[in-house]
Amino acid sequence: PLQGEGRDGAAPNGSAQQLPQTIIIGVRKGGTRALLEMLSLHPDVAAAENEVHFFDWEEHYSQGLGWYLGQMPFSSPHQLTVEKTPAYFTSPKVPERVHSMNPGIRLLLILRDPSERVLSDYTQVFYNHVQKRKPYPSIEEFLVRDGRLNVGYKALNRSLYHVHLQNWLRFFPLRRIHIVDGDRLIRDPFPEIQKVERFLRLSPQINASNFYFNKTKGFYCLRDGGRDRCLHESKGRAHPQVDPKLLNKLHEYFHEPNRKFFELVGRTFDWH
Ligand code: A3P
Repeated sequence: PLQGEGRDGAAPNGSAQQLPQTIIIGVRKGGTRALLEMLSLHPDVAAAENEVHFFDWEEHYSQGLGWYLGQMPFSSPHQLTVEKTPAYFTSPKVPERVHSMNPGIRLLLILRDPSERVLSDYTQVFYNHVQKRKPYPSIEEFLVRDGRLNVGYKALNRSLYHVHLQNWLRFFPLRRIHIVDGDRLIRDPFPEIQKVERFLRLSPQINASNFYFNKTKGFYCLRDGGRDRCLHESKGRAHPQVDPKLLNKLHEYFHEPNRKFFELVGRTFDWH
């Protein structure tokens, strides 16, 4: 690791930047920010604040590992460094690149009900447009083409978890990839986080008391040394109401891909 001068000149004592020993690879809208924030409650975890997009963006990857290292937070030698870039999971080039950096790296993948993920994905892009005061089509306009489910809609493809996971399994054994149940992380985060602690071989230091349910937000928030905080308001947004028949089509569409995914990972999830 580089012995560090802080990014703004200050040299935090004895700390250095380290390449990540674990990466949250996705999925987009799976709960990746919540997972990163919750894991950061652990004193032995140092997290990169922003999405780094090293392995998926050529203009970053071409700058090499030195550039990547420079994006990492300063940490002590005993700390684990983690970054999250949800686009990694669905980028076919990424698994090989991560493997060539560190074939023994531990990967975190947080997934949620694939249909719900599609609605969340749409909602995200919708609000990006609203922010820029640009109009954006209704979700039906994306989901339906010629009276049928539009399987060309990009958000549907991102929810085909077995397709993307297969790319990773060409380079990493399943035991190196811990799958976090994103639906459970919403309903009851502590048990899911305990599993992550064990997977990363961290001492059990995150407690149930680090989480409290915030009725106003409708989600769990974090309590860290007496300091309470919820995720940004862009996390946990209402999804569009979709016609039940169309929603059913969506559920049916994912039925077979989900079965294949469960087979691939030897585990089932409580999805539609
Ligand atoms: P929605 O906003 O669609 O509900 P990501 O960080 O990968 O973009 O994922 C965003 C999703 O994280 C949110 O999607 C929300 O459901 C989920 N999430 C999980 N735990 C959360 C929490 N404690 N607070 C807010 N959102 C949470």
